[in-house]
Amino acid sequence: MPSLARRLALGFALSLSAVAAAHAAAAPWWKHAVIYEIYPRSFGDSNGDGVGDLRGITQHLDYLQKLGVDAIWIAPMYPSPQVDFGYDISNYEAVDPQYGSLADFDALLREAGKHHIRVILDMVLNHTSDKHAWFVESASSRDNPKADWYVWNDGIDANAPGVTPFQKRFEHDGKVPPNNWESVFGGSAWEWVPARRQFYYHRFYRQQPDLNWRNPAVEQAMFGAMRFWLDRGVAGFRLDAISTLFEDPRLRNDPELPGTNAQGDPNLQSKYSDNLPEVHDVIRRMRAMVDKYPGHRVLIGETYTRDIADLDKWYGGARRDELQLPMNMLVGFGSHARFDAGWFRKTLEDSQTVPGQPLIVFDNHDNPRSIDRFGDGRHDVQRAKAIATLLLTSRAAALTYYGAPLGMTTATPTRKEDVRDPIGITGWPKEKGRDGERTPMQWTPGPQAGFSSNPRTWLPVNPNHATVNVQTELAEPGSLLNWYRTLIALRRTNPALRDGAMSFLDRTDPDVLVYRREAAAPVTVLVNFSGEPQRIKAGIVQGAVHTLAATDPALAKATTLDGATLPPYAAWIVTPAR
Ligand code: NOJ
Repeated sequence: MPSLARRLALGFALSLSAVAAAHAAAAPWWKHAVIYEIYPRSFGDSNGDGVGDLRGITQHLDYLQKLGVDAIWIAPMYPSPQVDFGYDISNYEAVDPQYGSLADFDALLREAGKHHIRVILDMVLNHTSDKHAWFVESASSRDNPKADWYVWNDGIDANAPGVTPFQKRFEHDGKVPPNNWESVFGGSAWEWVPARRQFYYHRFYRQQPDLNWRNPAVEQAMFGAMRFWLDRGVAGFRLDAISTLFEDPRLRNDPELPGTNAQGDPNLQSKYSDNLPEVHDVIRRMRAMVDKYPGHRVLIGETYTRDIADLDKWYGGARRDELQLPMNMLVGFGSHARFDAGWFRKTLEDSQTVPGQPLIVFDNHDNPRSIDRFGDGRHDVQRAKAIATLLLTSRAAALTYYGAPLGMTTATPTRKEDVRDPIGITGWPKEKGRDGERTPMQWTPGPQAGFSSNPRTWLPVNPNHATVNVQTELAEPGSLLNWYRTLIALRRTNPALRDGAMSFLDRTDPDVLVYRREAAAPVTVLVNFSGEPQRIKAGIVQGAVHTLAATDPALAKATTLDGATLPPYAAWIVTPAR
């Protein structure tokens, strides 16, 4: 019979762990989630037309479950002329026949649920396709019911004072665009429509006219579209281009910066065409709508910010009534990002200062893959393991992209005639477009990498699928894919890696990054960013240790860090030995 003190202590411990369990149960699912982005054209082709589809995703749910992902974010699969491969939506409440049907979508949702995987959709609120019925109507005259659903302007006299040479290039009938705003994809952001004798604004391709969010009917329609999918059971949305919903009502010129961009246009600072404060009112109303649904639906933002302080406002600051997971693009895509312990120490430490849960991102469908950006051409897989370690052991939700856990590489077209992404055609050769990071998923070493039965896939299959593929890597204990699986399994089960605060143990080492995740049994993560073995500084972790995971199996034999050496690019995750 235990003593009273012991029984009390036991009772206390039990109630503490009951509290911890209750907390864990109450924590929304997205807080610790691994979210996996799927580019639907490129994941799995179930009908042999060379383009991926929804059934192709359903067929691969076993793999995703085995990998350990909590949710998939599917890039737009709605009807679309596919100018921007789905980001030009012509109907928000249906599925593009190329990708299947609503019934296929519902089946995917059902099957994903059986695999404990949630489905997040991409919501493009800033613009529609120019083939959307709303725009067709809006563009038909100045006085139709949708006349004010987009951003229309008469333009200004071509000879008016202050008109820039850039504006003059876009003259129509003596009128030029009302200001110097540029499309992100090149040229003026204004397009002339003869039927209205007006320009409309498009931040992206001219086939992507911007909606007028100052018109309440637009908000109502778009929130309606979101409810359509929430009612079907989606777990939330990734909000595309969310910072650009509003433009300056006075249409002031954006300040010019030195030099020209890849499209040959003057560089601008998007002072009056991006990040207007009005967007936050919309997001707060959106969050209130989403919160009415059960099951912790989540809003994720495509939030490229200048710095970490800028990220705070996407959470709603201290009120936290806006996005639950605005993306931190600074660690992985910051303008000075490089494979360097100092860079990651600084940006990961910053990442911990935001008012809500961080969401770290290294890969997406718009940027060359991180294995190439952080690789040196010789140790790319080793370096990718280091990046995976940061992604999956930091205190953060984690976003990964199809193919990243395999080490799929960026296969940028080498000839202009092969380019599919329009910016790669207009910007060639300075800007080769985004095809390189969108090539078909590599499932097997076989024909078309197991992506499709059709040899004519929409983008070529990367020849490196002979070795870089799911089948081969699952069978290799030391593969990048198995490192991802190990880390994901660990972060699910280890309390320190799930919730523990993150602190950096060595602030000066140029080569080795060491951080600790606090908990009753803390976890220390060590990553060697250099190509040389690095001796671990004495006293960084005292006492006997137990290895939770290591890229080099020999490390697992060590019982203390004192005097131990990290092999080149090694990652080592330890906890005190009991
Ligand atoms: C961001 C998306 O990620 C990108 O692919 C797209 O071209 C633009 N927004 C426009 O929707």
